Amino acid sequence: MSERIRIFESTLRDGEQTPGAKLNAQEKLEIARQLARLNVDVIEAGFPISSPGDLRAVQQIAREIKGPVIAALARTVKEDIACAWDAVKDAQKPRLHVFLGASDIHMEKKFRKDPQTCLNEAVQAVKYARSLTSDVEYSLEDATRAREEYIYQVVEAVIDAGATVVNIPDTVGYAVPEEFGALIRRILTNVPNAHRAVISVHCHNDLGFAVSNSLEAVKNGARQVECNINGIGERAGNAALEEIIVSMRIRPDHFPFTTGINEKEIYKTSRLVSKLTGIPIPVNKAVIGINAFAHSSGIHQDGVLKDKSTYEIINAELIGGQAAQMILTARSGRHALRNQLEALDYAMNDAEFAEFYERFIELADRKKEVYREDLEALLIDVSYTDPIYGLEYLHTVGGTRTIPAAVVVLMRGEESLEAVSSGTGPIDAAYKAIDMITDLNIELGSFNIRAVTQGMDALGEVSITIKHEDKHIIGRGMSTDIIEASVKAYLDGINKLINVKAHNNIQP
Ligand code: KIV
Ligand code: ZN
Repeated sequence: MSERIRIFESTLRDGEQTPGAKLNAQEKLEIARQLARLNVDVIEAGFPISSPGDLRAVQQIAREIKGPVIAALARTVKEDIACAWDAVKDAQKPRLHVFLGASDIHMEKKFRKDPQTCLNEAVQAVKYARSLTSDVEYSLEDATRAREEYIYQVVEAVIDAGATVVNIPDTVGYAVPEEFGALIRRILTNVPNAHRAVISVHCHNDLGFAVSNSLEAVKNGARQVECNINGIGERAGNAALEEIIVSMRIRPDHFPFTTGINEKEIYKTSRLVSKLTGIPIPVNKAVIGINAFAHSSGIHQDGVLKDKSTYEIINAELIGGQAAQMILTARSGRHALRNQLEALDYAMNDAEFAEFYERFIELADRKKEVYREDLEALLIDVSYTDPIYGLEYLHTVGGTRTIPAAVVVLMRGEESLEAVSSGTGPIDAAYKAIDMITDLNIELGSFNIRAVTQGMDALGEVSITIKHEDKHIIGRGMSTDIIEASVKAYLDGINKLINVKAHNNIQP
């Protein structure tokens, strides 16, 4: 049977140390609730001595969240440990996590203390923590730059003092996988009482090895892994939880281990953490980035359409994400477009499809990559109104120290109608030119603009309301050019209005 690895989640402590990622108590609680749904074994909720706000946030989490162990961090000083205990004592399963530097660099330069003094401090701190609770973790900060003999001494002493978990952090992300795995193996072999505690690892990503180092450590006997959602954390971040879990799932031949993680909650957790911390998920981030399940090249798309296994090793549904999407381009072809439309549950007959294909090509020519969201917007943009006026030509000028102006040419049947106007801006000028042609007494109500997808070339969708006599009409337009999208929205509204008036219709 495969061995169970405990997942210690530190997004709310080390993750919160990411520059700019400060969370308030409510946000921390919301993330903690989601981490409980994800079913992590331990939530490191904060560093209570760091601020009264963090103390309160950890207290709230400890009181509300049931299931995972709730841990709080403390230095080896009594005041820190007492404060951390105050924060977690009401938890269903509290843990105190105490740490002190173990490398000569930290002891000499940070503390100006000799190794024996630090060792004594560590032992006293663990004993004090154990007097408060039965679950005590001790971390040897900067272990990967410490002398190995000293590591053995500290591990043995803190286990004797009562530590139930001993953590070996690669604090500065200095280790490489083979070396780190071997260190864990030697600790387990050479420290006589090592089997009495769970050996944990905590890897930073300065050289990009955080996940590899963690997995290598597990292969060599570590049974707790400390990791964070989206790999956020101090400096280059910590090992990414989602990468560790999915690696174990996809490569059990190399990582024959289980965890308690509810994998289907990964996607949601990742998005929530990104939203609340304000740290975006890189598009190419392993497992969770938007491109991780997207196929761009025509050859890849063709392969995936024939059989997913050609270019896909992870099924997005595994982590509760949406099925793989094809990023369509003008060269994707009709087969790929039809397939995407079917995936979106849009059935079209051949004539409708032919017309839609023209619209798609027009968009793909302007916007190199067409995402699922673009297609959805394009589908919504299909107007069910007879177009009375069609946009034939639009030219606008705007900017600093110029008078904004627009030249608009509309087609009404075979007739070409042109107007030129100035305005407060290019959109206002274009609307005034359209008013001159259509000669309707129209009042503009709301005007909303939004980007459909990300990036500089994103489709812009404009939605407006126009008022004419007692009628309120909604007009919508889309384009990669927001001025054109605005003009299309105005014309859409005008066309609908004329149709309503002609048929004395119920308003759309
Ligand atoms: O990176 C580190 O060493 C830490 C410890 C407090 C565990 O975050
Ligand atoms: Zn850390």
